[in-house]
Amino acid sequence: MSEEMQQIDAFIERTSGERMADYIDFLKIPSIGTLSEHDADTRRAAQFVADHLTAIGFEHVDISPTGGHPMIYADWLHAEGAPTALLYCHYDVQPVDPLDLWKRPPFEPVVENGRIYARGASDDKGNLHLQLWALRAWLETHGRLPLNVRIVFEGEEESGSDNFGPWIEANAGRLAADVAVVSDVGFYEGNHPALTVGLRGMVYTQIDVFGSRLDLHSGGFGGNVQNPANALVAILAKLRNPDGSIAVPGFYDHVRELTPRDREEFGRIPFDEKQFVADHGLAGIFGEDQFSPLERKGARPTLDINGIWSGFQGEGSKTIIPAHAHAKVSCRLVADMDPDQTYQLLADYVKSVAPEGVRVEINELNDGDWALTPIDHPATQAAAAVLEDVFGKAPYYLHEGGSIPAAATINRLLGQPLVMIGFAPPDDQAHAPNESMRLDNYEKGIAAMARYWETLATTKL
Ligand code: BES
Ligand code: MN
Ligand code: MN
Repeated sequence: MSEEMQQIDAFIERTSGERMADYIDFLKIPSIGTLSEHDADTRRAAQFVADHLTAIGFEHVDISPTGGHPMIYADWLHAEGAPTALLYCHYDVQPVDPLDLWKRPPFEPVVENGRIYARGASDDKGNLHLQLWALRAWLETHGRLPLNVRIVFEGEEESGSDNFGPWIEANAGRLAADVAVVSDVGFYEGNHPALTVGLRGMVYTQIDVFGSRLDLHSGGFGGNVQNPANALVAILAKLRNPDGSIAVPGFYDHVRELTPRDREEFGRIPFDEKQFVADHGLAGIFGEDQFSPLERKGARPTLDINGIWSGFQGEGSKTIIPAHAHAKVSCRLVADMDPDQTYQLLADYVKSVAPEGVRVEINELNDGDWALTPIDHPATQAAAAVLEDVFGKAPYYLHEGGSIPAAATINRLLGQPLVMIGFAPPDDQAHAPNESMRLDNYEKGIAAMARYWETLATTKL
């Protein structure tokens, strides 16, 4: 081990108490980006992060306004001749409902069984915080970083990243880098180390069906009016075929086919179907027969109803024909689908199958592009070597089903290759009650990132 790393490891060890207190302070800030009642909290989280960047020695620290939550920019650019990395994380977190299923309040972090429990402990405050400490470890022990680093931290990831693309375009002049390191991902089942090489894109829509001005008596009117709730479910029922494939014409036209090599890579990663069913209390696994579960998650698109509401939902019965009915419907996209085009196909189809006697509207709420990284990119291979060194196992290369619109935006607009590395455990319950981070992933994550920056400094990119 290099002398640098010995000093860094000693730093990591002696600062663990201070670090845990600091992590807890960060997790106490309820930065729920999508809820406007938490705007001040989200802003406070941005300030917390910016203050830390300044304190550890970053320059040009900027809480940069957008139409929504601010972007955080900072840089350290004194490694002459070395490459430059752009580091992405997000400081916003998901809402916490249903609150009654949390064992402890979501913004009062507790440490138990080697984990820290709080909303955002893993997604993505855990990754963001350990990244800050890996940078601090270098700067405090050596007064320098081994390479140049630009920080781009976002506060709107969990609410659709609406202002991210425009901000990147407007700030491209200060974002030049050889590689983008996206730290908003995690490990595989069994807490096996992993690098993410694929993310799905997304189109999120709302369908609204309107009938009468007010709810109607279902006796007085039933038989003479179209029912918006019946009309909505008729539309929704036409979106998918019984086998789970999507019935929207043209939906699959641009889906990139898996090559034999791709299928070989997917086949390398173990997947225990029985365990999957048991872990999540499912009746069984369901999806397109011709593809394996990991292929369906990583390389096939989806269409899902995320929410649906109309009419009477209280106790007992109420005889009405509801005035309106609504559904949230979203698609996960894969290479080479285009979000705008996919939305148009869906919207045209929904209109074409809308029953008579109601007004049907569909609107897009947000979208994002898919992203891919070639496994053999030298920056990815360097990350793999570091993960193997620190965690003792060669990482899997994952095609994740989730989306990080910002990753695709960085890749498309700035032309930077992506390395997607993060330390979230697979059972972190991200977005759900009782989210947690494994503390050994978090601590070893710091050691891994400190090593990664050193390795990347001498990698030919
Ligand atoms: N960190 C996740 C993305 C992710 C999920 C990466 C699973 C790897 C595995 C991110 O914070 C997230 O939740 N993204 C949203 C994006 C959406 C709001 C546009 C998602 O995937 O639903
Ligand atoms: Mn995230
Ligand atoms: Mn998330």
